[in-house]
Amino acid sequence: MEEDLPKGVKEMGECQHFIDGKWRSSSSRESFETINPATGEVLASCAAGNEQDVLKAASAAAKSFADWKRFPAPKRGEILLKAASLLRQRKKSLGEMVTKEMGKVIAEGEGEVQEAIDFLEYIAGEGRRMIGETTTSELPSKKCMTVRQPVGVVGCITPWNFPLAVPSWKLGAALIAGNTVVFKPSSLTPLCAVALVEIFQEAGLPPGVLNMVTGSAQTVGRAIVEEERIRAVSFTGGVEAGREIYSRAAQKLKRVALELGSKNPLIVMEDADIGLAVEGILFGAFGTSGQRCTATSRVLVHEKVYAEVMDQLLRRTRAINVGDPLNPSVDMGPVCGREQEMKVLRYIDIGLKEGARLICGGKKLTEGDYGRGFFVEPTIFEANHGLRITKEEIFGPVLSVIRVGNYEEAVAVANDVDFGLSSSIYTRDINRAWRAIEDLETGITYVNAPTIGAEVHLPFGGVKNTGNGAREAGSAAIAEFTEIKTVFIDYSGKLQKAQIER
Ligand code: UN1
Repeated sequence: MEEDLPKGVKEMGECQHFIDGKWRSSSSRESFETINPATGEVLASCAAGNEQDVLKAASAAAKSFADWKRFPAPKRGEILLKAASLLRQRKKSLGEMVTKEMGKVIAEGEGEVQEAIDFLEYIAGEGRRMIGETTTSELPSKKCMTVRQPVGVVGCITPWNFPLAVPSWKLGAALIAGNTVVFKPSSLTPLCAVALVEIFQEAGLPPGVLNMVTGSAQTVGRAIVEEERIRAVSFTGGVEAGREIYSRAAQKLKRVALELGSKNPLIVMEDADIGLAVEGILFGAFGTSGQRCTATSRVLVHEKVYAEVMDQLLRRTRAINVGDPLNPSVDMGPVCGREQEMKVLRYIDIGLKEGARLICGGKKLTEGDYGRGFFVEPTIFEANHGLRITKEEIFGPVLSVIRVGNYEEAVAVANDVDFGLSSSIYTRDINRAWRAIEDLETGITYVNAPTIGAEVHLPFGGVKNTGNGAREAGSAAIAEFTEIKTVFIDYSGKLQKAQIER
């Protein structure tokens, strides 16, 4: 691994904080390790930040804000394009880094680098748009318009399941809009974060515009939320952490964008192309070992095609090749670390105890090389709707299949959870597809495609407990990171009174 480490990590011997354009060790002098979840190998040691480090990062971000805000947005876009081109040049090695540190299979590792490239290229163009409204006035010789302004210093707190792509969404959007940033990556994937920050630095981002502090949610995350000068926080992660961030930030009246849990349903109707639906289920449920916010975690199958779907699904799931995610012939890698593995196994146990029927998988793989990493078999339960495993987020390769009698029941079951990120329906009936788009209570709905695979030029986010109404990526990205200023220009040369002069 040594030769593949980001330059900074090689030089400094550890992942460090990046503050005011320089790599720095932590004020705490404490550290943690990042490991390869497929092998247990320690990849690097990493600085565990504290409040002092966040304070320094926020000061650097606050100091650089005025200049960055004034730097023309198209020029900010050029820096992002340069970053995208560096990502493209290093796609192979970065894809490997994602795979080694996070555990997704190599095709997905490289796909994730592509997602980061795609978003940065997309959002760089926003530098030449940043569009507002111009409109008329109720008074003569007066014009009204809106302009977009950066929020100020923003905090971006990102998860481990997309260690390059999600930071690129947040940092790219924050930066193009003219904000300066304090960034805290997940402690499971700091190497990917260091590599990304290095790329931004190399692309020409001025010192202080992007600052990174690595460390725990309890210390670094909390300090970001508490810090007065950080005016907005964008967070992707678990529901409990999101709730905590939201309520703490509320005391400071901060803007918060949350992308949290999910329990995404995929409906297979009686008229579906069954082969296509099964392909979609496999990719949706077991891609990234089920560790996507958008992963398919419930399949609702019409009773008329239930036997056929189950037959194909079981046959195909049993053939999934679990193993070293760097090996291109492997279909599914490990889950991302011990804690995640324990959570997944706990939920399998809960499913068994509450009477769901385990029909495939269900165990940790321990033999030979598996024993070094965190591998769980692709697991399928037949379950009645209402069990905990059908309602709570598991975030692993565990799928519940639920039999339904008709479309109405499918929609009722699909919607009867606390979350609402992504949903999918397989049907050949165009009317029913359109009806489902209306009926399914999720931020994203797919027709004849699995619940995963969102494209970056469209808004991403969910309803209910999946978030707080915020969307990121796509056309929504700029809204997340800007304030709207409303401007009235009166060129009449006299005092005109709106509402009063009529
Ligand atoms: C996430 O899982 O946190 O929809 C983001 C997808 C991805 C984005 C997922 N492109 O599969």
